[in-house]
Amino acid sequence: MRILQTGAAKAALFNPQEALDQLPNSILILDKTLGTVIYANTAAEVSLKISRKSLMGVELRDVFGENSVLEDVIIQFKLDGMTQRIDLLLGFGPLRADQKEFLAYLILAPLEGADLVILEWFEIDQQNKSAREERLIMQARANKELMRNLAHEIKNPLGGIRGAAQLLDYELPDPSLKEYTKVMIKEVDRLQTLVDRLLAPHKRQKQIAQVNIHEVLERVRSVVLAEFAQGLSITRFYDVSLPEIIGDKEILIQALLNIVHNAAQILEERIAHADALIRLETSISRNITIAKKRFKLALNVYIIDNGPGIAADIIDHIFLPLVSGRPSGSGLGLTLAQSFIQMHGGFISVQSEPGKTIFHILIPYTSPDFLNNIEPRGQT
Ligand SMILES: Nc1ncnc2c1ncn2[C@@H]1O[C@H](COP(=O)(O)OP(=O)(O)OP(=O)(O)O)[C@@H](O)[C@H]1O
Ligand SMILES: [Mg+2]
Repeated sequence: MRILQTGAAKAALFNPQEALDQLPNSILILDKTLGTVIYANTAAEVSLKISRKSLMGVELRDVFGENSVLEDVIIQFKLDGMTQRIDLLLGFGPLRADQKEFLAYLILAPLEGADLVILEWFEIDQQNKSAREERLIMQARANKELMRNLAHEIKNPLGGIRGAAQLLDYELPDPSLKEYTKVMIKEVDRLQTLVDRLLAPHKRQKQIAQVNIHEVLERVRSVVLAEFAQGLSITRFYDVSLPEIIGDKEILIQALLNIVHNAAQILEERIAHADALIRLETSISRNITIAKKRFKLALNVYIIDNGPGIAADIIDHIFLPLVSGRPSGSGLGLTLAQSFIQMHGGFISVQSEPGKTIFHILIPYTSPDFLNNIEPRGQT
């Protein structure tokens, strides 16, 4: 009897709307004619990039546009009232015509007892994406370890080599031979800078505090605009209602600077034509999984540029150390950025085509304890 009462009390507290918002699949509840949306869960808002408020009362056609496959499914559903399941390409209607279509597994089912219809979907490559992300995270960890050890091995003898080259330089009787010792010293210094860059993030103790991501982005924006004063616009689409994240502000600035700086560098040609554009965007995602850990809230930062896109031969490797498409690049900027974001429990991914490159930084909302436990610090 007691158990029953507890169950009843729990049932009274149970809020089906909240439960729908917890689900990873996107859900729209439609009126029985399948004409208009009467409810959208959080995952649907994220998938469609349309707010729940804007979805209410909207016609399905305005959400997904003209879609003959979807229309056939709807006709079938209206005919037999049976649950329909299908893989299909979902496009966007006038509400978000700027978005790209995506492959989804869709289920259309009657909402028993309510005279309503439930339209549920999930993006099919989501699963592949998660597996890929996980692989990249593991790879990045292994790389970091390798690079750290290698950097140490290189760093140790560098001082000796430089000293010896300097001594040789003093002793050489023929000034024309000094050319060679100068080259040796210059190259040793270049290696030293490279190695220092590799080791720097592992030396510094993390300084964890509340961070306003928009302050970080504004700082990055002003630094890049100071260097690229003409021909480049950096526009902002900030969700100013975002709560602060927990993180290390300086490290986050460095990570974002590396990405925005790359974009500005690659935009050289457009800068000359004064139509180079970088767009900084922030938003929030709910119920996100990163490296098998589930987070209730995560911050998205998108850095989008209208440059030529990432060269096809390097796009799969750009987060690996020493991969560069620039003659004078050392190929460390993105390796470090990925490592810095992973220190925050997050992840950077990229999508690129000519005219549009999108770097997506995902940072979960966590606690200081969580961040301090990600990786032991100060070992080097
Ligand atoms: N927004 C972008 N558009 C096109 N290509 C890009 C973009 N961002 C990065 N890349 C490519 O990825 C490569 C790797 O970038 P990364 O920052 O790791 O190294 P880098 O810029 O070459 O050298 P550095 O260590 O000085 O940053 C770049 O050389 C460039 O070819
Ligand atoms: Mg770079």
